[in-house]
Amino acid sequence: MASKVAEILETMEYGPAPESAAPANAWLDAHERRFGMYIDGAWTAPADDRLFESINPANGKPIARVTQASQTDVDGAVAAARRAFESWSQASGHARARYLYALARHMQKHSRWLAVLETIDNGKPIRETRDIDIPLVARHFYHHAGWAQLMESQLAGYEPVGVVGQIIPWNFPLLMLAWKIAPALAMGNTVVLKPAEWTSLTALAFAQICDEVGLPPGVINIITGDGAVGEMIVKHAGIDKIAFTGSTEVGRIIRQATAGSGKKISLELGGKSPFVVFDDADLDSVVEGVVDAIWFNQGQVCCAGSRLLVQEGVAARLIEKLRARMERLRVGDPLDKAIDIGAIVAPAQLQKIQRLVEQGRDEGATMWQPSWACPTEGYFFPPTLFTNVAPAATIAQVEIFGPVLVSSTFRTPAEAVALANNTRFGLAASVWSEDINQALDIARQIKAGVVWVNSTNLFDAAAGFGGYRESGFGREGGKEGLYEYVQPVESVVSSPLPVADDDRRSTTDVQTFKRSNVQTDNGQQTTDNGHFLLPPIDRTPKHYIGGKQARPDSGYSRPVYDAQGRLIGEVGDGNRKDVRNAVEAARAAGKWADQTAHNRAQILYYIGENLSARADEFARRLATATGYDRTAADAEVAASIERLFTYAAWADKYDGAVHGTPFRNVTLAMPEPIGVIGIACPDQCPLLACVTMFAAAMSMGNTIVLIPSERAPLSATDLYQVLDTSDVPGGVVNIVTGPRDSLAKVLAEHNDVDALWYFGGAEGSAMVERASASNLKQTWVSYGKPRDWLRDDSAIFLRHATQVKNIWVPYGA
Ligand code: NAI
Repeated sequence: MASKVAEILETMEYGPAPESAAPANAWLDAHERRFGMYIDGAWTAPADDRLFESINPANGKPIARVTQASQTDVDGAVAAARRAFESWSQASGHARARYLYALARHMQKHSRWLAVLETIDNGKPIRETRDIDIPLVARHFYHHAGWAQLMESQLAGYEPVGVVGQIIPWNFPLLMLAWKIAPALAMGNTVVLKPAEWTSLTALAFAQICDEVGLPPGVINIITGDGAVGEMIVKHAGIDKIAFTGSTEVGRIIRQATAGSGKKISLELGGKSPFVVFDDADLDSVVEGVVDAIWFNQGQVCCAGSRLLVQEGVAARLIEKLRARMERLRVGDPLDKAIDIGAIVAPAQLQKIQRLVEQGRDEGATMWQPSWACPTEGYFFPPTLFTNVAPAATIAQVEIFGPVLVSSTFRTPAEAVALANNTRFGLAASVWSEDINQALDIARQIKAGVVWVNSTNLFDAAAGFGGYRESGFGREGGKEGLYEYVQPVESVVSSPLPVADDDRRSTTDVQTFKRSNVQTDNGQQTTDNGHFLLPPIDRTPKHYIGGKQARPDSGYSRPVYDAQGRLIGEVGDGNRKDVRNAVEAARAAGKWADQTAHNRAQILYYIGENLSARADEFARRLATATGYDRTAADAEVAASIERLFTYAAWADKYDGAVHGTPFRNVTLAMPEPIGVIGIACPDQCPLLACVTMFAAAMSMGNTIVLIPSERAPLSATDLYQVLDTSDVPGGVVNIVTGPRDSLAKVLAEHNDVDALWYFGGAEGSAMVERASASNLKQTWVSYGKPRDWLRDDSAIFLRHATQVKNIWVPYGA
């Protein structure tokens, strides 16, 4: 009898279990299936001549028409947000918390309606919208209600950014809205948000909920339309920050379009995330993990585990199990509660998937699909598995954004890491092994913003999400995500040290070479026609690359003058080749990141000690170079020594966090070094600024290519000997002297530089932001604003020197 029941369960057909679309349809009907936009707390009338259709991907039929916003609409939304910002940003954290709490409650109250609406607009299974998307939406509002409440105490010294433009994709329409709006509102910003043109409806439903909870007009404005409307938001002068999720291509366009505008940006872009399976993994769990990794949301997930990397010994067994599981997956009407895989969002996306799958076959990979056929009505694609995929194959490199898994094998853990990191992306990774030591070691080595151990696609408001490399920058969720929506309160520069005007300009005003008026190293003046008792020993510093002085490639030197225009020395005239060599040396010194924080601290203290031993000489030369009086020069040297101690202190204290995510797991939010950081120093405080920046970057395990102050580079070149005597491994700090802006441009365009800090003029800042789009490196620029370098801003510098990796580690059976 028992075996009979088991047999029946095995062979029984699924009956249809449809969720009713009636309430969602009734809502659409009540709006006559035509929508205007939500601006300044009111609905605009649908513009008859600018309506476009939203299609149900499960049957290809139109569900509603939505307005393509005009420039006037965008202007109106931005103006409303600006007006609302005045009072919203001044409201107490508690007041904002109440609104966010109300939004969370209302989202829950309407959860099924929102889930159904999302499913018919996007094509994703109701099981996912009902059990994952919408609960997470509510969770985001609840969690951020808490941050609004705590902002004053936990983010003291920070203020909201202003009006935020948010552009979101179609794969998680309401969830991406929540990820963007909840932190923005919590931190006191106001918002203009545009959903993706294929999936606008839940954003419009959300607007109605804003109305229901009585959110003040203008705090949230929802405008609809395609990429052209996105572009209007990006370029709008009234917007202070852009938060974007979508393709890497558009992310790059946004980086370029906002360059030089002073807009803060965060980009959450594409991925090609590895799913690494070791031979000791529990293969049955792995199979379920793969189902979640690549067939969740039809594979239209930026962090989808789309590259399966399996240890050779278990590859055949895993592939066999996987095929058996794929055979049993069910593709069909997404409103059916027993469906695993729904419809692809739109014909264009379906065609893209088909094209890439064709290409995979053409390039020689082996394709496998289940024996059953997909529904013919609507846009469906079966779960697909490629084996024998070469690491360089198109399908192994390009984001397919569909239910297509590509797999290859590895032998050793080192090979697994190399394959996992063989991508321009770095969004997420999943590591499967019953050996926790191995799993965490691999998690540490993979370059990705999120790593799931023995799990996959877990998200929560309390944990940060976001990428490394070309997957973008910035985090959403967790305390780390809040910094995208705040800025340090501007303080008046009160430094007793002079501010050089040079940082405000962008090009070098080269002074004439006055041979007849030379100031020597020790401050004595000698003249051509005077009597030399003993000529000073020539000290012409070269560049400092890989721990050694290197002659400039150009074979040229450039004169350095003091404040009165007298020649005080010469330094190497750096060029593109020198910068490239320095980047190569910095990359080769990457082991610096593996040194213990204690060791890094020791070396920073040692630099401080050695600088202190020569403090008098540094102050004297600084005074000569800058024209400071001795008191100011002494103060700058003293502050530089103290700064080295500060970052030595931080090296082993800038801890991460363990986030309280509501699963049986710990989520380790670990600050990691960014990699190679390029640093272009200001002329202001030539020693202190230089020391502050390299010490901050070094303390967190980065390696550095530094361009010293163009006007006063000798303080930096004098440091060579200090670095040499302080056990700094070769290549950790590299210094190239020369024209700041043209050297910074080489750094900005260099694909092996991971971040660039530029302290110089507005024009140079814009250049750096634009040029950085090549590999979407993180940039931090000053737009010529002087800084109080004497102030200890280590919290800000350390944040720029790190990126947070969230590692999810489950526990329990
Ligand atoms: P997309 O990046 O073009 O669209 C995302 C959002 O950006 C939409 O709201 C769109 O209207 C807007 N947009 C488009 N062009 C813009 C511009 N020039 N300025 C400002 N906003 C603009 O993504 P799309 O075309 O929908 O999908 C193309 C591919 O991108 C997909 O096949 C997939 O590979 C990838 N993608 C990745 C996502 C992710 O989360 N990583 C999300 C969506 C798409």
